[in-house]
Amino acid sequence: MRFGGSLRATMAKRTKGHVDKAADVLAIFGISGDLAKKMTFRALYRMQCAGMLKCPVVGVALDDWGDDGLRKHAREAVEATVTKIDGEALEAMLARLSYVQGDYSDDATFERVKAALGDAEQPVFYLEIPPSLFSTVVKGLGKAGLVDRAHVVIEKPFGHDLESARELNDELREVLEEEQILRIDHYLGKEPVMDISYMRFANSTLEPVWNREHISHVQVTIAENFGVGGRGHFYDSVGAMRDVIQNHALQVLGLIGMEPPSSNDPDSIRDQKLAFFKAMRAADPKRYVRGQYDGYLEVKDVDPKSTTETFAAMRLEVDNWRWSGVPFFIRAGKCLPEKTSEVTAVFRRPPLLGIGHGKTPEPNHMTFRIEPEPGARMRLWAKAAADESFESADLEVLFERVPGADPEPYERLLGDALNGVHTLFTRQDAIEETWRVVQPLLDEPGPVLPYAKDTWGPEEAQHLVQGTTAWADPWLPGT
Ligand code: BG6
Repeated sequence: MRFGGSLRATMAKRTKGHVDKAADVLAIFGISGDLAKKMTFRALYRMQCAGMLKCPVVGVALDDWGDDGLRKHAREAVEATVTKIDGEALEAMLARLSYVQGDYSDDATFERVKAALGDAEQPVFYLEIPPSLFSTVVKGLGKAGLVDRAHVVIEKPFGHDLESARELNDELREVLEEEQILRIDHYLGKEPVMDISYMRFANSTLEPVWNREHISHVQVTIAENFGVGGRGHFYDSVGAMRDVIQNHALQVLGLIGMEPPSSNDPDSIRDQKLAFFKAMRAADPKRYVRGQYDGYLEVKDVDPKSTTETFAAMRLEVDNWRWSGVPFFIRAGKCLPEKTSEVTAVFRRPPLLGIGHGKTPEPNHMTFRIEPEPGARMRLWAKAAADESFESADLEVLFERVPGADPEPYERLLGDALNGVHTLFTRQDAIEETWRVVQPLLDEPGPVLPYAKDTWGPEEAQHLVQGTTAWADPWLPGT
């Protein structure tokens, strides 16, 4: 495969991007955008509180802000997203900020960035900018001689299909080595997503049954009970498939389906996920349902004739010894009845028994809940009190945290980028495999079907699972 060879060559060479100390500056392109407002300033503040932010932070954008303007916006963003603010930490974080104004297509912008970086030798550049600008900025950095010992963090989506992901990578690779590119998927920085591999592999009761002999199918749900909001322009150009399925949902499936990582090597988990993605069949457009919530076309900056999906459901198949014949179902969307994200492995149904009023027991479910209230639940069946029927008896564990103590995804991932830790970033080979899997659905998307807000998408999504199962009711807190 075209990527593998070049990666090995890169690893052997280790010319650029070799890390021998933590980064000494963080430069954020797109600092005036929505993501910075909602996530980045909060993450920087939390990193400061945790003692993880030790370097200056240079913000870059087109807006005419200046250092004071940047600090004002940063302060407002932290005040809007953090409840109990530690004033000293906030001031210390703000003191690290400086601003460079400029157009990314202008070489002079990168000269100003260079001046702002001063003596820094090992920068991290975080690009939270529209995908169409990734390559312009990376080329600008290269031309200004800023990338030799740099890492560049690239926001998702990486490409909008297989071909464009390859093209984008080729363009970045004209300037950067693979190991300098940190492709971010914030789901991988979520503690409960990391918990999946721990629960799977640290428990010898689970591993022996985690295969096609015992599991009948797997379901992933990423549901949000709100619409596209102020992100109409971005969302209308991507849709549910590119926004959360090709990346977040498939990465979660990778952790559910991969073989155990076999060494401490930072690539071990990424190699195993890659092998799982490679075993996935290209998706079948006949097993794909797209929906659009009523009212989406009136959202600001959405094309009034848009056929972008705000809901998608699909069936995937994996050809390997562990999973052959086990369907993997995914559904994801906006304006659904709940905000919940979970994955459930459904075990095979027991045979008809001479107990329980002659009824066949329902299958066991093992659910990993990513949110809300991260946890895991094994649904077992027991005898109902004073009756000879089956009743569910759930073994539940909530991954309770000291509130605020665990790093949040962006905090963890930016911290890892600053320390040159690559494990939670997605390699190009996995990006290409996941695009390969969904590519037929992009080529033949089929119609987009309307659905009412607060429902689980179009009726056709129910038909998709018929014959195997029904969609499991999400495991909600308190149920
Ligand atoms: C983002 C998508 O990647 O993930 C959003 O662009 C989505 O549309 C979000 O709302 C979901 O992630 P989280 O962490 O907010 O549940």
